[in-house]
Parts: sequence; structure tokens; C-alpha cells
Amino acid sequence: MPTLEHDDAKLFYRDEGKGQPVMLLHGFPLSSESFQAQLDALPRKMRLIVPDHRGFGRSTLDGGPTEMSRLAKDALAILDALDLESVVVGGVSMGGYVAMALARLAPARLKALVLIDTQPGPDDDAGKARREATARDVEAKGMEVLVESMMPTLVAIDATPATRAKVGRLIRANTTQGASAALRGMALRPDSRDVLSQLQRPTLVVVGERDTLTPPEKSREMAALISGSRLVEIPSAGHLSNLENPEAFNRALEEFVLSLPKESR
Ligand code: MLT
Repeated sequence: MPTLEHDDAKLFYRDEGKGQPVMLLHGFPLSSESFQAQLDALPRKMRLIVPDHRGFGRSTLDGGPTEMSRLAKDALAILDALDLESVVVGGVSMGGYVAMALARLAPARLKALVLIDTQPGPDDDAGKARREATARDVEAKGMEVLVESMMPTLVAIDATPATRAKVGRLIRANTTQGASAALRGMALRPDSRDVLSQLQRPTLVVVGERDTLTPPEKSREMAALISGSRLVEIPSAGHLSNLENPEAFNRALEEFVLSLPKESR
């Protein structure tokens, strides 16, 4: 896996396949491995660039809070290192917050956007307080706090034991420092609705039909902000639609990427 030293961190990323470059940004508290089903199938059709956010997977952390704009700058540094001017950027949940931060910082680097089980609004005061309480709890008791508190909303209510075991393993592989820094960073994110309503880019919104964390009606509201966006609901999936139903998710992503006008591929 290639590595880039940037802004006092070592950033790991996967770069696989040929064709239209598509950067996929993972959710909290996971890693690039949460896109394994995409990395297994899609590089035959497109080039996937999949980083570990700083503080997750094999990327290091240089203190916190890990603001979404900092993660977006890390993603841009990877695109610079690969000499890629503009790409399709997709993000799951927290990865979607990063994609929206990237759209604010450097819209010219965005060929098209894929927003997956995410939302544009910021945390309210109660949400910010909950993030801080969770960060302290994680620091005191470890990653099991997140496995227990998040599993019920990360995957669909009827997710298989194998899916739950996989998600649990991905969470436990991360560090408490990385997780608490990202919790504090997410609490600082701004409202991105202005970015989405001004964005003039092909956009695909994807949501698991059983997502209770960022449910389909929120995705419909988000899609309505973006002119010409497309919305796809993934059956038999909760908040991690790419991991829970990879066949349907991969089909939706492939159709979208291959439908982009030639000059924007
Ligand atoms: C995620 O899946 O990335 C998180 O649930 C996002 C969040 O906590 O807001």
C-alpha cells in the first residue's frame, strides 16, 4: 500500500485499477478496509483510490481534533501526489462530511460527487456534547465502547452475524486516540447545505433502505438540494450500504461513473 508523508502524518492509501479515478472516503470508526468489496470488484472498471483517514487503519495521527477540512486536505495531498487534477469523490457518512469539506475547499478537484449514508447538517449543541462524552468514554474504556454503542445503528437490524463480526473487527483495529480525535473533529464541522446547493457537479446520493442513522428521508432532502442529483436506495442495507449489500452498491456506483459525460471522465 503506498504511503504519503503529509502535514505531520503518514497517510496510507490503496490505488487499484485503471480508468476513471474514483476516491472513496471511509466512515467512522472504520478504515479503507470497509471498502474491500468495492476493491475486490470495481478496479476492473475504474481506478479506486481509497485512503485510511489520519488516525485510522494504517495512517498515523498527529494530535486532534481531526477536523473534516484537515481530512479533506489530506485527500487533496494524495491527489496531488498522484498528479490527478479532478476525480469522482465518494464518502460514506463521516467520509461524506470530508467529501463536502473538499467540495468547499477545492470544487475544481471534484468531477462528480457520491454521497453515501451521510448528511450535510452540522451537530446541534446536544450532539456536540454527546460527541465529547463519547470521546472521553472511549479514552477511558477503549474501542469496545464504540462497538457496543454504534453497532445497532451502523448495520441493519437484521444484519448477519458475519457482517456484525466484520464491522466489530474493523472498529477494534483502530486506536482510541484516532477515534476520539475524529469525534471531536466531527463536532466542529460546519453546515454544508450551502456547498451542496451551489454545487454544479453530477451527484449520486446512495442510502441503505434500513439506515436509521441517516435515514432515506434525510437523503431525499439532501438530494433535493443538489441540482440534477440521482438518488439510489440500497435494499437490505443499513448505514453501511457499501459493505452490507455490495452487489447493489457496486452496480449503482458503476452505472453512475460510466454514465458521466466522456469529457468529465
Ligand atoms: C459514520 O458512520 O461515519 C458516523 O456515524 C458519522 C457520525 O457519527 O456522524
